[in-house]
Formats: sequence, structure tokens, C-alpha cells
Amino acid sequence: MSGRTKLGVLVSGSGSNLQALLDACARPDFPAEVAVVVSNVGTAFALERAKKAGVAAVVLDHKAFGSRADFEKALVDTLVSAGVEWVCLAGFMRLLGTDFLGHFPGKVLNIHPSLLPAFPGLHAQRQALERGVKLAGCTVHFVDPGMDTGPIIAQAVVPVLPGDDEAALTARILKEEHRLYPLVVKLVSTGAVRLEGGRVVTAAGPAMGEQSLRNPGEPG
Ligand code: GRF
Repeated sequence: MSGRTKLGVLVSGSGSNLQALLDACARPDFPAEVAVVVSNVGTAFALERAKKAGVAAVVLDHKAFGSRADFEKALVDTLVSAGVEWVCLAGFMRLLGTDFLGHFPGKVLNIHPSLLPAFPGLHAQRQALERGVKLAGCTVHFVDPGMDTGPIIAQAVVPVLPGDDEAALTARILKEEHRLYPLVVKLVSTGAVRLEGGRVVTAAGPAMGEQSLRNPGEPG
């Protein structure tokens, strides 16, 4: 498919969400493609996933830069030279500032393993278990300079079951992450969802109802 939206995916670790995006992009009817993967951690397994898929994999170690501004400039340069239009954070463990975000206004997404605004930051699943919530899940949102604070696009819910430990809950949420992130990328790539005046706007129309953001099996 020609004219597909070019994604830059920023990672720091395992990259299972990157894999979900790569798998979606491998489908001929998917409206986006991964143009480049950038990791701030040289040993991240995500880099192997990118290479296996034939996608450029770049390491930019934040510790090698004198300042956050220099690191973010290198990130921007790498993404711009790959022709990236949308940036997907997928387990990227650095906060991005306004300098970076200003280069991709309204076009930076993140996925977080909680039902935001509950449990932002590290160890979201552990926080959820410690608070004894009965429902957990994941959120895809537009990125602003805060920690997991940007406008929410879509969420998926999972139950917290008796006897769950952090690993069990993390696995249940990850399964939903892998479904939700490609769905949102499809919606933003086709213009069905966009950020307007700091709010998430969905295009009305038969192909794009609220329906498509619901969990499978959830009544309409
Ligand atoms: C995911 O839980 C994601 O929501 C969070 O970091 C984790 C990354 O996992 N931001 P992976 O590297 O995609 O496997």
C-alpha cells in the first residue's frame, strides 16, 4: 500500500508493543508503516525485533549526551530524516520535553498499563494491586510534557482476579495493549481521531463510531 503513514517507535526494553505494531504494519491494508525504531538502551530486545522486521534500528543513549536538549535534538533529527509523521512511545523510559513535542505537535502517542489517570508512572500494575482495584487495564493517550498525563484516546479494561500477582496482571494487561495500540494507530493514521485544542476529536461516520474503541464483546 502506498502513502502509508510513517511511524517512529521509541523503545527502551522488550518491545512487545513494538512487535504488535510491526505485525499490524505487515498487513497490506494497514494504513501505517514503521520507518524507524529508536532505543535509548543499547541492549533493548526491541532492537532485535526491528532488525528482524527489516526496519532501521537506531541507538541513542541519553547518557552519551551533555543535556536533555541535545538528546532530544538527536531524537528529532533521526525521526525527521526517516520521514516520520507520528511518534509512538512503546515502553520508552524517558520523559520528552516541549522542544521534542513541538516538532510533532499532536502526533506523539504513548501506551501505559493502567486506566489513567489512575496509577501513572512506574510499576502501574503493582500500584493497582496494592490499592486493591477490581478493574485494571491500559490507556493510549497523546503525550504532553507530564508523566502519563496527556489527553486519553482509548482504554481497554481487564479484571483483577483473586490471587493475581504482578506478573499475572501484567500479562493480562499486555494482551490488551497489543490489541489497543495498533487500533489507535490505525485511527490516527486515517484521521479518524485527532487532537484539536487539547481535546481528542473523533470523526463521526459509519466507519468510525465510538463502537470501534470498545472492548470486544462489550455491548454497544
Ligand atoms: C508496557 O506495559 C507499556 O504499557 C509501558 O511499558 C511496557 C512496555 O512493554 N509503557 P514492551 O517493551 O512493549 O513489551
